[in-house]
Amino acid sequence: MTKDEVRNRLLFYQDLGVKTIYRRSPATSNQKPETSQQSPAPSPQLPATPQPRSAAAELVVLPLAPVHDNLSKISEDIGDCKRCRLHEGRNRIVFGSGNAQARLVFVGEGPGADEDEQGLPFVGRAGQLLTQMIEGTAHKEGIPLKRQDVYICNVVKCRPPENRTPQPDEMEICGQFLFRQLQAIRPKAICALGSTAAKAILGTKEGVMRLRGRWLEWRDIPVIVTYHPSYLLRPYNQNAKKEAWDDLKKVLHYVYD
Ligand code: URA
Repeated sequence: MTKDEVRNRLLFYQDLGVKTIYRRSPATSNQKPETSQQSPAPSPQLPATPQPRSAAAELVVLPLAPVHDNLSKISEDIGDCKRCRLHEGRNRIVFGSGNAQARLVFVGEGPGADEDEQGLPFVGRAGQLLTQMIEGTAHKEGIPLKRQDVYICNVVKCRPPENRTPQPDEMEICGQFLFRQLQAIRPKAICALGSTAAKAILGTKEGVMRLRGRWLEWRDIPVIVTYHPSYLLRPYNQNAKKEAWDDLKKVLHYVYD
């Protein structure tokens, strides 16, 4: 196995919440390795989703992956998180909010000042626009949907200083909790808001402009990428609004028709 393959495989188990992986010792090499019961089928389209087809061959994984994972357990596991530097400047961890059985999940980048103060995602200006986008578009399309019917969370759960973009290691560490949230909810579709969310979920380096408007996938769950509401708030980006509304229409009809 190449170094990259090993790394990808370890990331896959990390996504599942596995904290310890033991290399098989020669003495136990004939035993059937224990693997997680919960391994979701990785999507073949996504290059960044590790594909542990023959994981059993080299690694023994203790059953630390949560078997019946749920949002409370994930929140408990996050605890008073100090796993990365973002904890230093936060007031509150912003875990996520909404319907734990939502058919649609929106994923943003990370909390801003308002979110950090209230402990809830998307409650500032961008959040108000997101609520309008969700409820306004649904209403226009004849779909009875309120913000509380969907689930909303972020890639990183602590506010980055000065609202800077989360760094790769921060995204990697906090991303394992995002993946667990998505896996626990297993919505009918995911809407990634902006390129940080797209990058975390799809493992792509492509920007929103190239990704939006088409169906992608995270572990067999359809993903739509659209503009982050903060981007749409800037006066010079008004053209993007129509595209964002189109993306939203598409995902809402897919999920709720
Ligand atoms: N921007 C985000 O990405 N997330 C929030 O929760 C608020 C603003």
